[in-house]
Amino acid sequence: MSSSSAVVSPRRQRPVIAIDGPAGAGKSTVAAHLARHFGLLNLETGAMYRALALKAIEKDVAFEDEAGLLALAAETTIALEPRLEGNRVLLDGVDVSRRVREGDVTAAASKVSVHAPLRVWMVNQQRALGRDGGVVMEGRDIGTVVFPDAEVKIFLDAAPEVRGNRRYLQTGTGDAKVTEESLVKELKERDARDRNRADSPLKPAEDAVLLDSTGLTLEQVLEAAEQIVRSHLEHNALH
Ligand code: DC
Repeated sequence: MSSSSAVVSPRRQRPVIAIDGPAGAGKSTVAAHLARHFGLLNLETGAMYRALALKAIEKDVAFEDEAGLLALAAETTIALEPRLEGNRVLLDGVDVSRRVREGDVTAAASKVSVHAPLRVWMVNQQRALGRDGGVVMEGRDIGTVVFPDAEVKIFLDAAPEVRGNRRYLQTGTGDAKVTEESLVKELKERDARDRNRADSPLKPAEDAVLLDSTGLTLEQVLEAAEQIVRSHLEHNALH
C-alpha cells in the first residue's frame, strides 16, 4: 500500500501523534509518556501484528502462507486496551499481553507483517481506532501509511548496539542463552526485514521529526519528544 491511498478525513478535534522507528528505539516508553503527559490514548500497533502471529503459531499456519494468514485474520478479533504501563492485548477476548512479548512471537510478528493484504486489514482497524484523534499511535508505518496526515510525526532511532543493550537491561533475562550479542543480532535481523519489505517498509515520513536517542538519557529523550509535541500544539493554538 502506498501513502497515496490515505483517507481524506474531516479535521480532527484532537491530534494524532505518530511514533515510528525500529525495534528497541524506545517507542513504547516515549508513546506512554506522551499519552500520559498530554492526556491521549496510547496504541501499540505492533501488538496487533504480534497477536495475529501468536494465533498463527497456535493454529499452525505458516508465516509464509499469505492466504492462510488472511483467512485466519478474518476470524480473529484483536483489541488493544490502553493502560498507563502499556497496552493490554486481547486476542479473541483472551489476555495475551505477556505471551505476545516472548521471543518466538516477536520474530513471527516481523515475518507475518510482510504480507500486503494482511497489512490492509491491520491498517483499516488502526485508522478506525485513531479516527477521532486523541491518540499516540506507535509502530513502523503510522506516519507514512496509517495516518499520513498525523498532526505530529516522530521517527525515533538509535544505534543497533544501543538498542540491543537497552533491551538486554530491560528484559533482565535469567535465561543464559539470551546474551546481549544474541539480542543485537535478533534486532538487526528484524530491522532488516522491517526496512526491506516491499510493502510499507520502515522509513521516516518526509515530514517526520527525527529523534536519535543514541547519546541521550531517557529523561532527555522524553523531554525532546515532549517539546516536539508542545511546539506543535502551541503553533496550532496561534493559527
Ligand atoms: O513494535 P513491535 O516490536 O511490537 O512490532 C512487532 C513487529 O510488527 C515488527 O517487527 C514489525 C511489525 N509491525 C509493523 O510491520 N507495522 C507496525 N505498524 C507495527 C509493527
